[in-house]
Amino acid sequence: MNSAAAPAGSDGVAGCRHVAIIMDGNGRWARKRLMPRAVGHKRGVEVVREVTRAARDMGLEALTLYAFSSENWKRPADEVADLMGLLRGFIRNDIDEFVANNVRLRVIGDYQHLAGDIVDLIEDALARTALNTGTQLAIALNYGSQQEIARAAALAAAEGEVTPETIEVHLDTHGMPPLDLVIRTSGEERLSNFLLWQAAYAELWFTDVLWPDFTPAHLKEAIDAFAMRERRYGGR
Ligand code: FPP
Repeated sequence: MNSAAAPAGSDGVAGCRHVAIIMDGNGRWARKRLMPRAVGHKRGVEVVREVTRAARDMGLEALTLYAFSSENWKRPADEVADLMGLLRGFIRNDIDEFVANNVRLRVIGDYQHLAGDIVDLIEDALARTALNTGTQLAIALNYGSQQEIARAAALAAAEGEVTPETIEVHLDTHGMPPLDLVIRTSGEERLSNFLLWQAAYAELWFTDVLWPDFTPAHLKEAIDAFAMRERRYGGR
């Protein structure tokens, strides 16, 4: 289905415009199968692909995925190398599909400090999809929300007054719709330095499903649960 068949903001997503996902549980998924963690991450990338396609087909306006946090550098070097290799492969393999399907790729986080060839791949992909008007897919890379807020506040201060509005325009997510729903897989129930500012009024949905087992049906289930909730934004 192309983006024209399910326009952004259509009823298919029940008023839910922007979903973010903390993709957790790749390691446990692999361990349960007596396989190396790398196999779990590899399967995790397949799920990224399937969920991105589902989000696009539903007409979701934005999907933000936590792929590599600023704290993930603390993992063993071989695991970091595996994740970076998967990232290279993902951008190389999937960019043509994004271009063809009107998906706009975004990256949030301090991606400039990744390896030079990855920075080049990212910048090429951002440029090639910059004018796309369908689903925005934001990948969080070397991302930490506290760092993002500090950077934005410093920029706001350099320009003058520091207010929620002047900080907001300097966040990496500026230009994306407000965050509606945060999903975390694998049974953990915390935000882990992900979109702390943006999640101020987001609904949270947790599932025991490990990320490599997550399917488009789970995404639909989370969005359906979102649709049942009453959001009051501090009012009554
Ligand atoms: C958590 O599993 C997952 C991550 C470290 C990030 C998610 C990464 C991917 C899905 C692959 C890379 C993505 C792209 C877009 C190239 P974990 O290792 O913490 O699992 P555990 O808690 O069970 O050990």
